[in-house]
Amino acid sequence: MTVDDRFAGDADERFTDRTSHGRRNEPTIGPVTDWATDFDHLDDAWAADPYEIQDDLRQRCPVAHTDRFGGGWLPTRYEDVAAVAYDSDRFSSRSVVMSNFRSDVALAPAGGTPPITSDPPFHHGARKLLLPAFTRTAIAALEPATRAYCHELLDGLGGSSEIDAAVDYAQHIPMRAISDMLGFPPEDGPEFAGFVASVLEGINLPLTERLEGIGALFHYLSAQIDDHLAHPREDLTSYLIDAELDGEKLDAFHVAGTMGLLLVAGIDTTWSAIGASLWHLAGHPGDRERLVAEPALLPTAVEELLRAYAPVTMARLVREDMTWGGVEMKGEDWLLLSFPAANRDPAQFERADEVVIDREVNRHAAFGLGIHRCLGSHLARMELRVALEVWLERHPTFSLADPDAVTWSHGQVRGPRRLPLKIG
Ligand code: HEM
Repeated sequence: MTVDDRFAGDADERFTDRTSHGRRNEPTIGPVTDWATDFDHLDDAWAADPYEIQDDLRQRCPVAHTDRFGGGWLPTRYEDVAAVAYDSDRFSSRSVVMSNFRSDVALAPAGGTPPITSDPPFHHGARKLLLPAFTRTAIAALEPATRAYCHELLDGLGGSSEIDAAVDYAQHIPMRAISDMLGFPPEDGPEFAGFVASVLEGINLPLTERLEGIGALFHYLSAQIDDHLAHPREDLTSYLIDAELDGEKLDAFHVAGTMGLLLVAGIDTTWSAIGASLWHLAGHPGDRERLVAEPALLPTAVEELLRAYAPVTMARLVREDMTWGGVEMKGEDWLLLSFPAANRDPAQFERADEVVIDREVNRHAAFGLGIHRCLGSHLARMELRVALEVWLERHPTFSLADPDAVTWSHGQVRGPRRLPLKIG
């Protein structure tokens, strides 16, 4: 039975629209009444600018609540975010996208997309398998091709006086990098944007529609696995097909789930980080001019841009009823783990709400904390640095063509999805 057949067959059992304590999950509708008691990470105000909301919550209600999505919590202090991230005994990663549907406990211990949906002890082996492909040395080998591709993208745009840096530049860089690693045809890139949108942004859709979107991703992955079985090659897909965990080959669903994770985690995140960084530089000529004059500052600047515009928020499920951080949590409640809010906590960072482009000490949490800390961080940093280096070299002067035309993604990965820049 192929991954595709199994996904279709098991779909109903894989996701549940009821919490274990019987509350039915309704789609989130209507504007937020009070962010402390009714937060909604799909709200337009949150997508446009979550920072003021998070700063306000940190002051007056550091662990906010919502009844939406069947119930959930939102800590905004660094120390609370860190405490949850390090506590996999009380907070499970079985479902990491806060939506109407929690994946079923039957999927444990791997979860749908290992290792990000795996809890200990399974998590350790599932993560370890992937480490060799993402070491600093392995990623350094990909830098020349990434640089050449960034130039190729800008060459393709000719002498345009306006470029949508999100659509025509940022999104393509991680798409190409991860599809090369997985051994997918480069021309499939545009399909990936659809997969990413349905997994990460289609979170308020009815279950059947949501499963259609995820099913299309598994259908694609299944075809890639079949092709690699017929024609094995030196890439991450063939590696996963041959890999063993505890002396046994990986289940086909594990292979596909990990491939799906790499595709989604690899694209939306870095696309968002490149876009948010260019958006910042377009609006802050002082920082832009300094980086053009001092390119050696880029690695430091990249860390600060990641801190200030951390794109990724993850979710956890509360395992059992408990009192935590002064609030009464129920088993199967969501907890939204906002690394972006942690990164702007003034108790942790001086001048937390400013971009200090040469900030020297910067222990930010953009790549997460604890056992699930980002496995692709070397790749992400390389792509972000190279994308900015090439852009600044080719287009040292640019500004926002129309600030109102900029749009931001909704949900747990935040970055510009339209970013028209005026060149020169
Ligand atoms: C700027 C870009 C990126 C950011 C900000 C980012 C952020 C994160 C964060 C916050 C986590 C922790 C998840 C959790 O605690 O549940 C994570 C995990 C992960 N990331 Fe990234 N990521 C980025 C790029 C990438 C790339 C390019 C890849 C690889 C293609 C990748 C692969 C992964 C994987 C596999 C995990 C799961 C690790 C585990 O569960 O042990 N990420 N990422």
